[in-house]
Formats: sequence, structure tokens, C-alpha cells
Amino acid sequence: IHNLPLSRRRLLTALAAGTASLAMLRLMSNPARAAGRKNFSLRAAPGRARLVPEPHGETPAWCYNDAVPGPELRVRQGERLRVTVENALAEETTVHWHGLRVPNAMDGVPHLTQRPIGVGETFVYEFDAVDAGTFWYHPHQRSFEQVGRGLYGPLIIEEADPPRVDREVTWVLDDWRLTQSAEIGEDFGNRHDMSHGGRIGNTATINGRVPEEFAVRRGERVRLRLVNAANARIFGLDFQDHAPTVIALDGQPVTPHEPAGGLVVLGPAMRADLILDMTAEPGSRVQVIDRFYQDLEYRLIDLAYDDAPLRDSAPNWSVALPANPLPEPDPATVRRHEIVFNGGMMGDMVMREMGGSMGEGGSSGMMGMMHGDGIWFINGKAAEGHVLDPMLTLERDRSHVIAMTNATAWHHPIHLHGHSFRVISRNGAPTIHREWQDTVLMAPRERVEITFVADNPGDWMFHCHILEHQAGGMMGVIRVA
Ligand code: C2O
Ligand code: CU
Repeated sequence: IHNLPLSRRRLLTALAAGTASLAMLRLMSNPARAAGRKNFSLRAAPGRARLVPEPHGETPAWCYNDAVPGPELRVRQGERLRVTVENALAEETTVHWHGLRVPNAMDGVPHLTQRPIGVGETFVYEFDAVDAGTFWYHPHQRSFEQVGRGLYGPLIIEEADPPRVDREVTWVLDDWRLTQSAEIGEDFGNRHDMSHGGRIGNTATINGRVPEEFAVRRGERVRLRLVNAANARIFGLDFQDHAPTVIALDGQPVTPHEPAGGLVVLGPAMRADLILDMTAEPGSRVQVIDRFYQDLEYRLIDLAYDDAPLRDSAPNWSVALPANPLPEPDPATVRRHEIVFNGGMMGDMVMREMGGSMGEGGSSGMMGMMHGDGIWFINGKAAEGHVLDPMLTLERDRSHVIAMTNATAWHHPIHLHGHSFRVISRNGAPTIHREWQDTVLMAPRERVEITFVADNPGDWMFHCHILEHQAGGMMGVIRVA
């Protein structure tokens, strides 16, 4: 550590002590310092992807650098990324760095934080890797179609001192609605998907391929970084006899724990870092099954054990992750805010449409407060077009609690840009793993409280990450000022 430049040494010390502030981190990684900056280029363009094995053809898709997913961008914590994005699509685009605490102007939200990148144009994003963890990037322009056609990729920020494992593996999960000839169904953004569970597909992929098997050895320890890049599908992964340990959610360390009911549940946009010890017998095959939806049990991939073990039993190395420099909210001075989600099929939309058919005045109560002809509502308002006006303004550098109620019949992964938040309670019961997340999956009728220090100034998107719900009005802007 003593050979490092002073700024980096101070940064690492502060990181270790958990006292580095966002401002401090930004100050120390000043753009002029060439060392520690990594340059990347992403080119968004139509291309082809081998999603499904032969004899099927390749699938026409939209790609970053000719691939689905796009390249894994990987830096060390404290480094600075400079990403040049070229738009070779036939429509405008942007790139959002999901879960990263970047300055507002680098957040990639069209019309809110930047002009969209026009056809043939280039835009340079530059920001510091403040938090270590598993993140991802994707367009924020017509995301339901651009992400749905394959524009996304993983972004990994390495800890200075990661836990010891034999192998580190990233699995970017997706779910596609493919035709018989392995082409992407063209029905993007239809009203049925929007008002129900979103665009649920028929083909799941890992890293852009329908997976066959994953070769492992008994005794091996793998750090598995999972990213759910699907528009709408929620994954609930069952590793059967293996007992994965969750060490991070949405990139942020949690108290290491086994997932409830043995299922690793990931809503769209969510990530989990798992420590997976390969404990089955040499030569065996173990299926990894997605069983989130009760009527749909899906064999995702097999763990295929080599005949020769690596070691006889799991290693007893520590699994703890170093903390990220997140400001701890202060419960004593917290400001409270309430947010209610409404709408969707079997919810208020049905009532409203029935109300409509019964003529003026047929809708009552809550319905009278809904504006616009959106499908989903946040505090009675459905977003239309580009959302610019804040629905909520949070005083900067203060602690806030947002109490959220899902008054719909559907799951919603709710995402806030520019911050990570602690999930402190679900239906009134305190959470127990010190969860820090940027996307929280809310079950139907569930009530969730989140808390965070609003230390990142700017206008930030707040939306459901089922991309059809977002397009159907389930988004707003939260201002930190
Ligand atoms: Cu992953 Cu507003 O996005
Ligand atoms: Cu939703």
C-alpha cells in the first residue's frame, strides 16, 4: 500500500474505515489523473446472436460490440471509467449504468440528464467506480424494446481485497419471446404485456445462450455473479442440494446468508453475488431450476461434475465482503415520505375501465385521483412521454425513509437511480441481512420501507424495472436538492 500515490492510499484507508464520502471519492479521482482510468467503447448496432443452438439459425438482435450481452466492463474500485458510446442503431439511444452512484449528468436518462444520442452520434460517459460490486448497463431510451432486443452488458467493479474463491463467474440472465424460427417476437410494448406481468418470454439464456451445462468439480468454490437483464421475468433459482450463500445484493454486501426457502429470487435488474460450493459427487449432474412462477418450472442449466474432485470438501475460507462507502442513514433525523403504486389488470385499471363504461361518475374514490390514460400510477399519476417534473423533492444530505405500498395485484421491482438504499422493513417486519439495494422487488399488496442519505444531487428516475410497466406509466422523478 505504501507504494501507492497518496490519494489512492488515503482512499483505500477511508474505504477500509468506511468513512469515504461520495464527494471525497470524486475529489480523489480527478479526471486529469490518467493512471487508474480505463477506456472502453460500446457500439450499439443491429447484429446477430446465437441464442439458440443449431439447427436453429442465429437471432437478429441489437448488440453492443456485435454481441449479446455486450462486453463485461471490469475495473477496480476507485478507478475511473471512460466509455465512448457510438449509436449505430436506427433510433436514438443512451446508456444507463444501473446501480452505480454516478454524477447526474452521466446517468444516461434521455431528456432528463442528457440529450439522447442521435443516430450516428457518439457520447462519452465518464465517472468513478465508487462502490465495488456487480452492476450492469443498458439503454434508457425505449428500454422495453432496446433492452428486449439484446442491448445490455455486465459491469463489474472489483474489491481491492476480494474473498478467496477458485473461480469467479458472471451469469447474465435473460428471457426472450422467440418465434419457431428463433426470431424475436415483434409485439413489443403491447397493452396486454403492459397491464399484466410484462413481456414474459419462452426462452431463458445465460450470457446470451440457451445453456446446456456448466462444468464444475467437487470441492470447488465459485463466486457466481447473477444479473437479471430480462424485461419482465422474475427468476427464482433453486440450486437443489447446494446451499448458496448470498454475499451481495445489487452489488452491495449483505450479511452472508442462505436465501429464504433456498430460492435465489431476482426481479428484473436485480443482482446477487453467491458463494457456491460444489458439494455433489464427482460425475453427477445437478439441475438448476427456475421455480419463481408456480405454473412454470424451468430447467435453466445443469451443473456437470467432473470425474475428478478438486478437493474432498468445501474450503473454509471467509466469505465476507469489505463494506462500500455508503453513508449510513440516521433514523433520528429521518424525513418520511409515502408512495403508493396503483393500476394494472385485476386492479384499479379494471375498475377504471368499468367505471368508464358506466359513464361519467362511474369511477369512484381513488379512481377520481388518477390522471391520464396510463396503466400504472405512482401516487395517482401515470407518467406520459418524457417525465421531467419531480414527484418528490428530497433535501440533500439528509436521511429519508420512503414507505412504499404496492396496491396492485402484480410484482414490481422498484428502482431508484443515483443511490443505494437500505431495505428496512417488509409489511412492518424488519429485514435481517442489512440489505442495501437499488432495486427492490415488491410482492402484490406488499409494503416496503427503504432508507438512505440523499447525497447525490440531481433529478433521478424512480421506476418499475418491468420495462413494460415503466412504459405504461410506472415512473417518476425524485429530485435531490
Ligand atoms: Cu436499469 Cu432506470 O434503470
Ligand atoms: Cu411493475
